[in-house]
Amino acid sequence: MCGCKQDMAFPDYCARCGGSVVLPPTSHPLPDTTNLPGVWRYAGRLPITPDTAWLSMGEGNSRIVSAAGSADWCGVENLLFKLDHLNPSGSFKDRATAVGMSQAVEQRASAVVCASSGNAAGSTAAYAARAGLPAVVLMPEAVPPGKAAVARAHGAAVLRVRGDYSNAFRTARELASRFGWINLTTTFVNPVAVAGLKSAGYELASQLTDPPDWIVVPVGSGPLVHGIVTAYRELRDAGAVRAVPRILGVQAEGCAPITEAFDSGATEVAPWQHVRTRISAISDPLRGYPADGTYTLRLVRDTGGAMAAVDDVEAGEAVNQLAYREGLLIESGAAASLVAVRTLCGQGTIRADQTVVCMLTGNGVKTLSTEVDPGPVITDTDEAVSRLRSHAALAEGITA
Ligand SMILES: Cc1ncc(COP(=O)(O)O)c(C=O)c1O
Repeated sequence: MCGCKQDMAFPDYCARCGGSVVLPPTSHPLPDTTNLPGVWRYAGRLPITPDTAWLSMGEGNSRIVSAAGSADWCGVENLLFKLDHLNPSGSFKDRATAVGMSQAVEQRASAVVCASSGNAAGSTAAYAARAGLPAVVLMPEAVPPGKAAVARAHGAAVLRVRGDYSNAFRTARELASRFGWINLTTTFVNPVAVAGLKSAGYELASQLTDPPDWIVVPVGSGPLVHGIVTAYRELRDAGAVRAVPRILGVQAEGCAPITEAFDSGATEVAPWQHVRTRISAISDPLRGYPADGTYTLRLVRDTGGAMAAVDDVEAGEAVNQLAYREGLLIESGAAASLVAVRTLCGQGTIRADQTVVCMLTGNGVKTLSTEVDPGPVITDTDEAVSRLRSHAALAEGITA
């Protein structure tokens, strides 16, 4: 990470060393922020100025619930979910977008741009609509159609870029620099936006009496890992928490550059060559910015944590587990966490008596297939009864 001093009027990688930048919290005195909405409760810990717009749609402040219906499935007794899929646009990205968009307003940007596998797109488009700014969104060509539709519904200009996420990343960065647009891509490219992700860590620390043993985080390039670990480190250094929890980072087997480096003991992450997964949310090959992955790898190792890779079929089983047993509609990139917990429990890395919190980062609504059969059409109650008899869970109760 870059220690160079930066002018963040135009957030980007460091102009001198090319590294990603981490910004210190504001040094400006702020009014009491305790009752402010969303991430702005933590305004004093963000890199903002007195002129920052403080745009909020009520992001953050997500609840933690016990996951009794999945504890057995995973093999841990104390499993908790943080419901970040309930953010205003359906993902944790809103924590970053709220801060990044506020800075874009402050800078009087003519437009914002982002590359996105889907969730940052919806988030940027929604917050841009609220801020009255035009938004341009670049997505990989195989993006789930529902995710592109959400961004379009908010009026964003959506373009799919041939190839994988890294191609969209490059195009967004080039457009930002050519037209002076603020880049809200949720890798490490915009350190103002990234700082908003610390709110997840502050919340976890205030919601749990003790730091959990593990926090499970789906990982593309890793800004959410950075946010949670940085928040816990700040709180530990201030004596407010006892320890920084171990991070279990989760990637898709078909695009797992950070997990591969973790498993091989490498100190640097290499870009992933051929993406082969449908778990699109966490599929970032890091081509052109592998140092972001190296930074995340170090963070995970520093916590004493681990990385895991999950295959598409298992992630699909976890989606069903959450939908059928927990009543939670979660997309595969976030549900994959459960598989990782189960695997590491099986290997003895996570002990059954440890406390594990899974970050449920993305809502499943946007990835529901538009091709799905909406169910049979019936004309009367008799036909309803005969149809329901074939439904396994109801058959026994329908006798007549
Ligand atoms: C649902 C979901 N989870 C996790 C991630 C990965 O987060 P990060 O960018 O912090 O690596 C993404 C990124 O798009 C996502 O959409």
